[in-house]
Amino acid sequence: MTDGTKARPVPGSGVEAESLSRLGPQEQRAALRRLASTTRVARFAEGTFVLRWDDVRALLRDRRFAGVGLSVFDALGINEGPLRRWYGNLMFTNEGDRHARLRALVQQAFVPRSIEVMRPATQALAHELLAPVRESGEGDLVDFAFHLPIRAMAVLLGVPARDVPEFTRWSHALARVFGFMTPDQVNAATDALQTLLPYAESLLALRRREPRDDLITRLGQAEQGGDRLTDAEAADLMVNLIVGGHDTSTGQIACTLLTLFEHPELLTPLRDDPARIPAAVEEALRYVPTLGAIPRVALATFEIDGFRIEPGALVWLVTDTANHDPTGYADPGRFDPQRFDRDDAPRLMTFGAGPHVCLGAAFARMVAQEATAAVLALPPPLRLAEPAEQIPWTSVLATYPERLPVRCAPRAAVPA
Ligand code: HEM
Repeated sequence: MTDGTKARPVPGSGVEAESLSRLGPQEQRAALRRLASTTRVARFAEGTFVLRWDDVRALLRDRRFAGVGLSVFDALGINEGPLRRWYGNLMFTNEGDRHARLRALVQQAFVPRSIEVMRPATQALAHELLAPVRESGEGDLVDFAFHLPIRAMAVLLGVPARDVPEFTRWSHALARVFGFMTPDQVNAATDALQTLLPYAESLLALRRREPRDDLITRLGQAEQGGDRLTDAEAADLMVNLIVGGHDTSTGQIACTLLTLFEHPELLTPLRDDPARIPAAVEEALRYVPTLGAIPRVALATFEIDGFRIEPGALVWLVTDTANHDPTGYADPGRFDPQRFDRDDAPRLMTFGAGPHVCLGAAFARMVAQEATAAVLALPPPLRLAEPAEQIPWTSVLATYPERLPVRCAPRAAVPA
């Protein structure tokens, strides 16, 4: 490797190296992509990384693995308290029957129809949020990508508009729970949770009295064989959806827009033919997935390409390198906006697979499509106001460019 991460060959074709976390998010990706061209598996201080398309695809569904459960909390020494209680009740942290029960009940509420119904409202929100950019001819699209998903989620859930600013702050503070938090971040996340949960419970109680066509009402009503979510469970899961969906959607929108600015020849054709936008958004999910790896914990002893995996070992299934593997996708280094329009396009793995496959994928796609369409509709000429390679990347739960300053024709300059 050329980036300072020492690597040495080990038996099998794998590679063992020291640490990945001292590299920035983009350098980590570049290092893993380089490794993937020569090895199926790499082992770092942070765990074992599985890099190839066919391995990742098979292992996502492998029953010798479970989700990471509470292992990050254990590693941080958070052994009790409200944050651990809540986190331990999420779909993401549960397995087997308990996971299946929660997931089935939430899935009843999160029906695809409700997402398509949300499309016009998301479109209107996107245009509203971009109004200052249209007016002045400049703005930061990461700021737009931060606000659009949480505003759309608030509408889907049925959160009153007046509460959205606070709701957004709580959600942002809680997003850290999916990674290694500092003590200050633990305190901020605990404070946010202790405000958000009672708020969610009070909305649930209100909707039980006065049902509406929203996700909160449906979560309260979801029922399977006489089993229902308690108010506390429904509140935990409502917060699960908010926190699982916010930073990830922000990140994917930002990654998609940056990719389009890096391919400026696509801006006008996509703007002139918006029916092509969903396939381009799908290709961006492959080309630059904001979540580049899915963590799993081994339940048994077994080997991957000569590497021994012991029970409890952390294994990262790297969707980013799998998405760039030529055995999975022809000419994977090329951003091909029509790839997913073809019938033979392999299934996308960015949302995972198996029992934990992303529950919000349809919603995330819809929001990213509407975000992209609204940005492309900004008055031309639309361009990035800073060279893409100078923009630093950040990592909260997802990984994405820290800012996307853009310029377009200001309103005064656009003929009526
Ligand atoms: C582009 C944005 C998103 C990406 C890339 C993404 C990706 C993922 C991935 C990789 C997983 C884990 C799959 C696995 O372990 O096999 C996951 C799980 C999950 N996602 Fe998403 N997600 C996104 C948006 C959303 C949204 C908008 C929501 C909610 C509205 C959401 C809710 C969830 C939930 C609840 C789970 C856990 C499901 C379970 O454990 O059964 N996600 N997501």
